[in-house]
Amino acid sequence: MNILAIETSCDETAICYLSARKNGASVDFSVPANVTRTQVEHAEFGGVFPALAKREHIKNLPVILDRIMDGREKPDCICVTNGPGLEPALWTGIVFAKELGEKWGVPVVPVNHMEGHILSVLVPPLPAGATFSFKDDIRFPALALLISGGHTELVLADSIGDYRIIGKTRDDAVGEAFDKVARLLGLAYPGGPRIAELARRFSGNEPVGLPRPMIHSKDYDFSFSGIKTAVLYMVRERSPLSEDLKAAIAHEFQESAAEVLAKKTARAVEEFGIRTVVIGGGVAANERIVAEITKTVQSAFPETGIMAPTRELSGDNALMIAIAGYFKVQKNPDADYGDIRAEGNLSL
Ligand code: KG4
Ligand code: ZN
Repeated sequence: MNILAIETSCDETAICYLSARKNGASVDFSVPANVTRTQVEHAEFGGVFPALAKREHIKNLPVILDRIMDGREKPDCICVTNGPGLEPALWTGIVFAKELGEKWGVPVVPVNHMEGHILSVLVPPLPAGATFSFKDDIRFPALALLISGGHTELVLADSIGDYRIIGKTRDDAVGEAFDKVARLLGLAYPGGPRIAELARRFSGNEPVGLPRPMIHSKDYDFSFSGIKTAVLYMVRERSPLSEDLKAAIAHEFQESAAEVLAKKTARAVEEFGIRTVVIGGGVAANERIVAEITKTVQSAFPETGIMAPTRELSGDNALMIAIAGYFKVQKNPDADYGDIRAEGNLSL
């Protein structure tokens, strides 16, 4: 079947055309067209503005659709992110999907953005237009660590589509903390990649210390606002900051986030007998965090696999929505989703 997927939950306008053919127990996917446009317009404000995101999505969607369709046959269904995300942004994708569904006479399927991040790990590094089967099967029970600008969650998965959140952040998401710390250090938005780059320049001289909030708590919750506040005090006390000190703070902040995420993930692996850990979301692009989780989990449980998305698919994109939509349709081919609505706070 052919799927057109649309993602507009935050500041990426993305559309993908995916073809899926069953092949025994596996599925062959090919991706003839996949476009993600990141709205750089937010950078100067230091964060994402919902009204601006909405305006840009409305402008971008028809232009991207023309590039995606480019003589291709109409899809068998349209998958669209219906949450979680910014409601005005989500609505633009939903309205656009409904209009197309009506025009083409094909069903529209709502897809959960977080499930998209989980299933993004199924896609191997991919030249445009290539066909792929699963990179590696996710073995169940699996554990997904979802780390993005809006979410920090640990999710148990007994199969594709069967999820239970066992822990989440009580305040800031880890990506949000990266962005806020970056701002305190005078770096532009989005801060995650910039912190990672600055941390690489840390020479080892003048190390600083930051807390590891909730690392020993018996639950699977997280808290990142305390580290950010500790950075705020450090910046106030020690300004003007030398380049060395900025690098030391970026490095220590990243270590703190990596250690907390790794410890809690490893504990859940032990308690639930996890066979695969899936890391998804924008922060999964952070090599240091993925390395720390891999080391901590596999030193205790060498049989447990770790899967993370390729760099292009760690951030928001429509290919992950197409894949999650494909499995949703397979599971329940005749479902009628009625009048799809944006649900900003939807969970898995
Ligand atoms: O999943 P995503 O693209 O959008 C949301 O759904 O939030 O995640 C964006 C977040 C931002 O907070 C960004 O700073 C963070 O992912 N991020 C990173 C890195 N690349 C992106 N954080 C840490 N290290 C990175 N290399
Ligand atoms: Zn996301």
